Amino acid sequence: MSDTTASAVLTDSMPAWRQHRYGEADSVALETAGVPDPGKGEVLLRLRATGLNSGDIRVMRGEPRLVRLAFGLRRPRQPVRGMDAVGTVVAVGPGVTALAVGDEVVGELPGGGGLARYALSPVARLVPLPPALSPEVAATLPIAGGTAWQALDLAGVTDAARAAGAPRRRVLVIGASGGVGTFAVQLAALRGAEVWALCGERNRGIVAGLGAARTFDYRTVQPGSAELPDDTFDAVIDIAGTAPLRALRALVRDGGRVALVSGEGGRWLGPVGRILGASVLSIASKRVLRPIAASAKAGILGQLVALAATGSIRPVIERRYDFVQAGAALAHVAGGHVTGKVVVIAE
Ligand SMILES: NC(=O)c1ccc[n+]([C@@H]2O[C@H](COP(=O)([O-])OP(=O)(O)OC[C@H]3O[C@@H](n4cnc5c(N)ncnc54)[C@H](OP(=O)(O)O)[C@@H]3O)[C@@H](O)[C@H]2O)c1
Repeated sequence: MSDTTASAVLTDSMPAWRQHRYGEADSVALETAGVPDPGKGEVLLRLRATGLNSGDIRVMRGEPRLVRLAFGLRRPRQPVRGMDAVGTVVAVGPGVTALAVGDEVVGELPGGGGLARYALSPVARLVPLPPALSPEVAATLPIAGGTAWQALDLAGVTDAARAAGAPRRRVLVIGASGGVGTFAVQLAALRGAEVWALCGERNRGIVAGLGAARTFDYRTVQPGSAELPDDTFDAVIDIAGTAPLRALRALVRDGGRVALVSGEGGRWLGPVGRILGASVLSIASKRVLRPIAASAKAGILGQLVALAATGSIRPVIERRYDFVQAGAALAHVAGGHVTGKVVVIAE
């Protein structure tokens, strides 16, 4: 390690799961890599747990191709996947005063880096890990929890609306059993909404336990089915991205909003067509379709951490993998049928 403001790192090398080409989980291998130096405004973390997201899989595959503009044209610039990280600060870069060696933190790493022993993070993306919260639970929060939070805000399902005495809102969460969905159901219920949820049959019990008043199997019930008639909801959070936009728009009442978290689409441009279609359908309409591009927001993460530490939200962890099994963890998330979250525990 070169000179940094303070450091407790005694080694120059570390194990890291790296990829040198875009591909499936077999493009990622456990290698020895150099320990990076924190730059200005950064800290180096000794990782304790890393949460995986479907976003890690999009970057791993470089699909849709549009992803490669941001992450590297031929191969990922950051070869290590894993964006949701919990760790101990072991070195601080120049100018860092908000954190010190020994601090325990959680946050979203830009572009990845979490499936390694050490990772860099800008200080601004990190919040303290309270003693009441385990690293593995905290590692589920940043992207999935943050996206659910921002989607509900966009759809108008807010604490402020509730405090202002707005009538109880009815919200439909489509794709309620995955990482984002299990948080969306819990947060919407916490914000006073009556939550209806579409998920796989095998997960209906889990989703009901998270606070959904009614659940439906997405393989037999679709927007527009008798169980989900038009003009029924104040807000729809679409995390599955497969229902026709017109059917989604018809679900909400006048004044209602649809937050589009996901949009399946072509191999090159992914959800771009759906985003453009949503804009067109929302012109002069009393029912608005809004795509969401969630971003790392420390203020929101701090609130999620507080809610999880007090048990007000209970992240669902389907599987925990040891660090040496991180390749299998990526393969499992890539299968697209995770219930809640998958977390890799550092050694
Ligand atoms: N816009 C943003 O800023 C943003 C941020 C984060 C994530 N995302 C996107 O949000 C989506 C979800 O992410 P995630 O991490 O929550 O995914 P995930 O955890 O991998 O979601 C898997 C879950 O989705 C369920 N599912 C699959 N197809 C479904 C359908 N047609 N209807 C209802 N449920 C379905 C699966 O149930 P079964 O096993 O029963 O099939 C599984 O439980 C991804 O497309 C991701 O790229 C967007």
